[in-house]
Amino acid sequence: MAARAALLAILLTLSCAAAAEAAVGVNWGTLSSHRAPPQVVVDLLRENRIGKVKLFDADAGVLRALARSGIQVMVGLTNGELASVAGSPAAADAWVSQNVSQYVGRGGVDIRYIAVGNEPFLTSYQGQFQSYIIPAMTNIQQSLVKANLASYVKLVVPCNADAYEGSVPSQGAFRTELTQIMTQIASYLSSNGAPFVVNIYPFLSLYQNSDFPQDYAFFEGSTHPLVDGANVYYNAFDGNFDTLISALSKIGYGQLAIAIGEVGWPTQGAPSANLTAARAFNQGLINRIMSNKGTPLRPGVPPADVYLFGLLDEEEKSVLPGNFERHWGIFSFDGQAKYPLNLGLGNPVLKNAKEVPYLPSRWCVANPARSLEEASNHLKLACDTADCTTLYYGGSCYGIGQKENVSFAFNSYYQRQKQDPKSCDFDGHGMITYLDPSVGECRFLVAIDDSKSSAVASCGGGCCGVFCGVSILTLWVLMYLRMMGSA
Ligand SMILES: *[C@@H]1O[C@H](CO)[C@@H](O)[C@H](O)[C@H]1NC(C)=O
Ligand SMILES: *[C@@H]1O[C@H](CO)[C@@H](O)[C@H](O)[C@H]1NC(C)=O
Ligand SMILES: *[C@@H]1O[C@H](CO)[C@@H](O)[C@H](O)[C@H]1NC(C)=O
Repeated sequence: MAARAALLAILLTLSCAAAAEAAVGVNWGTLSSHRAPPQVVVDLLRENRIGKVKLFDADAGVLRALARSGIQVMVGLTNGELASVAGSPAAADAWVSQNVSQYVGRGGVDIRYIAVGNEPFLTSYQGQFQSYIIPAMTNIQQSLVKANLASYVKLVVPCNADAYEGSVPSQGAFRTELTQIMTQIASYLSSNGAPFVVNIYPFLSLYQNSDFPQDYAFFEGSTHPLVDGANVYYNAFDGNFDTLISALSKIGYGQLAIAIGEVGWPTQGAPSANLTAARAFNQGLINRIMSNKGTPLRPGVPPADVYLFGLLDEEEKSVLPGNFERHWGIFSFDGQAKYPLNLGLGNPVLKNAKEVPYLPSRWCVANPARSLEEASNHLKLACDTADCTTLYYGGSCYGIGQKENVSFAFNSYYQRQKQDPKSCDFDGHGMITYLDPSVGECRFLVAIDDSKSSAVASCGGGCCGVFCGVSILTLWVLMYLRMMGSA
């Protein structure tokens, strides 16, 4: 036993991912038509020493790129997949086999968690996924047992914060119709050593309530602290976290570990979404986590893991919640840091992605020889397909002028069509230029060439030779020890 523990300790120290024990990870969403090759993104994660990543699905290209990276992975079973997996053990077997088994162990991907659904209890879903969650968990768990992975890969259910409510943290309770299912989920998590995963968004509280005290959303102290008996709350994050603890206590699981599945701040698309605010929020959050202060109801205990939302901007996300929805990244779509941020993982600031395969430096703009009025008619059409959210109030391109507006829209469309010359026609109102038309903070993008993105380096990301071997060995030994029930 002691020998095993010593071996484990040595291997952990030698492990490729020095950052594996750090609590801060990121959400890697891929709803973008400008996707950097997965290997470029994995290199970006490694350069920034990010040791944990949460995915929203189980994309094969992404998982292949994560192989031998030493990064711990949460894969996602989407809400759309819940019904079939809930209804059929065979479908669950197929899901686990195709999306988990083939990647772990010999496949070299360190999958630790499967998220069963994503915020399935959002009130806006009107309960449509609720009945699938427990059967889906049961079936997936049985598939994991069959695949000999049950002691290594754990199920979690990322919940939205509107699953519980309370005027003050001590009054926290799950929505009445969720009490039973939350009890079942908490019971599973508790007996399997998995955390309750919750998404907390002080930005949305601020955005949705005009009377929400601005400074309460951040971590610098508040002139409007929330007094709850003997406990005083100076930021929305702590208040929300403790509301969840109260809700869990009421169903008998007040000691359950809690991980933050999503938390972050967008950089544009709303008046309170900007670079300064995003930096202040994220840095304040990380400093708070790293300080191990915990919250009034759990002093000295930081969350199990905290996954920032998100890694990259995703310009194909729905703007139904607001234009900010496409601008949550700590990096732009192409892996360029938007602001200095110390993730607490060893680098004082974020490092940019390298070797991003851009298309040639070419842009599409409004032809100055043609009437601007007519060109404007094409703007809407271009923006129906392309992302023009930055042109609006609260966006980095707001106020650049009418001609520049049209040019921006034309270029967004042209890049989305991968610089197909025909896509810059607009009845003769468009024109290709080789001079970057960007205006100040307003960036006219050049798309990424994703035609070559399937090339997967056999030993990518600087995790090479002996280093990689050790990492894989660690994975195997860890899995062995877990199966023996000693890790
Ligand atoms: C595996 O995951 C992918 C992506 O999430 C999904 O499209 C596919 O249907 C899954 N495989 C199975 C067998 O369900
Ligand atoms: C950025 O957002 C913060 C937080 O809402 C706000 O106080 C500040 O005025 C904004 N800054 C700018 C330059 O808009
Ligand atoms: C540019 O486009 C945005 C979005 O359609 C609009 O709000 C703004 O008024 C436009 N500016 C000019 C000068 O046309």
